[in-house]
Amino acid sequence: MTDERGRPYYVQNIPVPETPRPRQNPAAWKKTDVVGKRLPRVDAYERLSGSAVYPSDTSLPDMLYGAILRCPHANAKVLSVDARDAERMPGVRAVIMQNTPGANVEWSYGRGYKTKLFDPHCRHEGEEVAAVAAETPYQAWDAAKAIKVKYETLPFLSDEQEALEPGAPAVHESGNRSGDVQVYQRGNIERGFADADVVLEQNYRTESELHTPMELHGCVAKWDGNRLTVWESTQGVYAVQARIAEVLSLPMANVRVIGHYMGGGFGSKLQAGKYTIIAALLAKMTARPVKLFLTREETYLCVGNRPPTNMKLKAGVKKDGTLTALELTVLGSGGAYPAGGASGVDWVVRDLYTCPNVRTSLTDVYTNAGPARACRAPGHPQGAWALEQMMDALAESIHMDPVELRLKNIPTYSQAREGNPPYTTTGLRECLEEGAKVFGWEESRKRTADANVADRLGHIRRGVGMASAMWAAGGGGPPSTVIVKLFSDGSVNLNMGASDIGTGTKTVMAMVVSEELGVPLDKIQIEHADTGTTQFATPSGGSKTVPTESPAVRAAVLEVKKQLFELASKDLKADATDLDVKGDEVIMKSDPSKKIKIGNLSDFRRRGVILGVGYRGPNPDKKVVNPFAAQFCEVEVNTRTGEVKLLRFVATNDSGRVMNRLTYDNQVFGGITWGIGLAMTEARLLDKTQTGKMVNRNWHDYKIPTALDMPMKIESHPVDLDDTEANTTGAKGLGEPVTIPTAAAIANAVYNAIKIRITSTPINPMTLSRLISRSRKEG
Ligand code: MOS
Repeated sequence: MTDERGRPYYVQNIPVPETPRPRQNPAAWKKTDVVGKRLPRVDAYERLSGSAVYPSDTSLPDMLYGAILRCPHANAKVLSVDARDAERMPGVRAVIMQNTPGANVEWSYGRGYKTKLFDPHCRHEGEEVAAVAAETPYQAWDAAKAIKVKYETLPFLSDEQEALEPGAPAVHESGNRSGDVQVYQRGNIERGFADADVVLEQNYRTESELHTPMELHGCVAKWDGNRLTVWESTQGVYAVQARIAEVLSLPMANVRVIGHYMGGGFGSKLQAGKYTIIAALLAKMTARPVKLFLTREETYLCVGNRPPTNMKLKAGVKKDGTLTALELTVLGSGGAYPAGGASGVDWVVRDLYTCPNVRTSLTDVYTNAGPARACRAPGHPQGAWALEQMMDALAESIHMDPVELRLKNIPTYSQAREGNPPYTTTGLRECLEEGAKVFGWEESRKRTADANVADRLGHIRRGVGMASAMWAAGGGGPPSTVIVKLFSDGSVNLNMGASDIGTGTKTVMAMVVSEELGVPLDKIQIEHADTGTTQFATPSGGSKTVPTESPAVRAAVLEVKKQLFELASKDLKADATDLDVKGDEVIMKSDPSKKIKIGNLSDFRRRGVILGVGYRGPNPDKKVVNPFAAQFCEVEVNTRTGEVKLLRFVATNDSGRVMNRLTYDNQVFGGITWGIGLAMTEARLLDKTQTGKMVNRNWHDYKIPTALDMPMKIESHPVDLDDTEANTTGAKGLGEPVTIPTAAAIANAVYNAIKIRITSTPINPMTLSRLISRSRKEG
């Protein structure tokens, strides 16, 4: 997602330095030896053996533990906080609340709105009221519970669909609207509908999903004098540094944030949390390191969610499959604070298919619920849930194959962006054609339809469905700076600021180094994600890390090579352009018998190392870099129980060059798992009548898909279009686009099986059996 100035959402809150123009602009690789291979992660052993030290593993001498007291009500004013008993409890070293010196600081979830770190008006369950540091976690939690708080409870609003009704409880004094209604339009929507042969209209809804990363949110904070070091589970150390410095009025140089490993974020760890600031303040008060990690229950309430989304989509199509008009109305809620409740939802409607007349309107309202956060392709899976089911229905209404309908409407340029810039590559056609072929789309449609008609499986019905997607980000771009150091034995140190959020960033970047220098991966040491020692990087989010960082890595290695060949050309008496490097040797291309060890180069010793700095150049002017995808699936519906079994999935992705086939496929499997969660099992449930509280705040009642929920077969088929225009490695983003079409593809397959449209997530047995019996009654 980008703001008006074209800045992606994940950099909006951090200062973006001017990036020097790239010093070199090498041509794309024609053939590769390392890049593209199926290679295990460079840190696979550390991750699997448990020896990798995650922030939540960090343990420092003398460390205290923090715990946060949270408001138990959906909406309440804090009248008084009495911590006298808590302060006297065993092991308690500090208690912090609104009136503690230094704690009365401002906090923003974004979009300019300021609240307080401990705001006396708690607008959602779980809002922070006070915190404790103690010798053990249990002492800290016990003490937090012993703090006596007087609340004045207020009427609450947990259903965003009631937010604008007269008499609805006001989440903010100013009312329940969060920002202005955002309208986008092109063409003439009325004329578009008038031109159509068929016009369909449907309401859709997706429930709120939680990020639920394996590693909880939190950090360890430690002061040395006036310098603060924070080990934080984060997607972006520089974003966390900037936020801490801003909130605590510290020079950025005095704040060091380290995030070497992290166990998942999915958008909920793109910036610091209140817990980060609280840990830093408790550490300052006690002059001891403080570890503050939230419980699973806390993370369900206050560190983000994919917002609930209500959509109304009206679409017009001609008999030949030409889309004439699309109109989308969205009501979303980012919860109690401005947090982008509806953002991104309309992007697929605006730009996935060619359509001259489009109107979208996004309304964002407040509710008494935890603030939303960017969550795996923000808005896009919701929008695709509506659009891709609508495309299925349109295809049926004009008796056209759903794949064919999509093939008829493939854009080559962005219709929604100013000036209609062309895409560097649009692999949507390839995704659809390749996917249909590998899946056996036409045969499968016929086979399942025949089986259903013949009643061959009894109460079991089979169906196939498909959906496609685009991701309005994923092109990456500057700033990115990387330093590569070459040692005398040919081994390498790679220094970059980016976090490896579990996707294999370190591995892919090491492969780029290896490609250019011929150095094996185990001789590359990676220094990353540390504001004290590594280069600047924007947070790893938006599926932009590979396209952003890999060109800078390549530029840095090429700079090293240039210097190396200058040194070697003297010793080998060769032209620098006639040299190549392989591991610890420089070799003459025209006469491979002439070679020299890097360490033996006469000028190398004086330098000690060769150091190359690489910058990421800008993306091509007036062009757009976006990934595309298509997915096909087969399901089985038990019409007695309402159970849906996912049998198989085929995923095709145009994400540019495949950098590592193993981590690529891992992203595809992970993205589909996310989509299955949205479609089938995940829903934040608020008690909308009695308390406004979340009733399924644990992994038992809030169900994320497990191995048994996964299809037995998922096939990943990259459409490997090396995007030579996008950047110097040819890669586009992958993780998030995968998750966009999944839920809609499943819903379309369920429709194909039983001719019932499920317009609200999740497609669980309760919902589905209700719909099945209703349709039977209606005959
Ligand atoms: Mo992305 S929303 O940063 O996982």
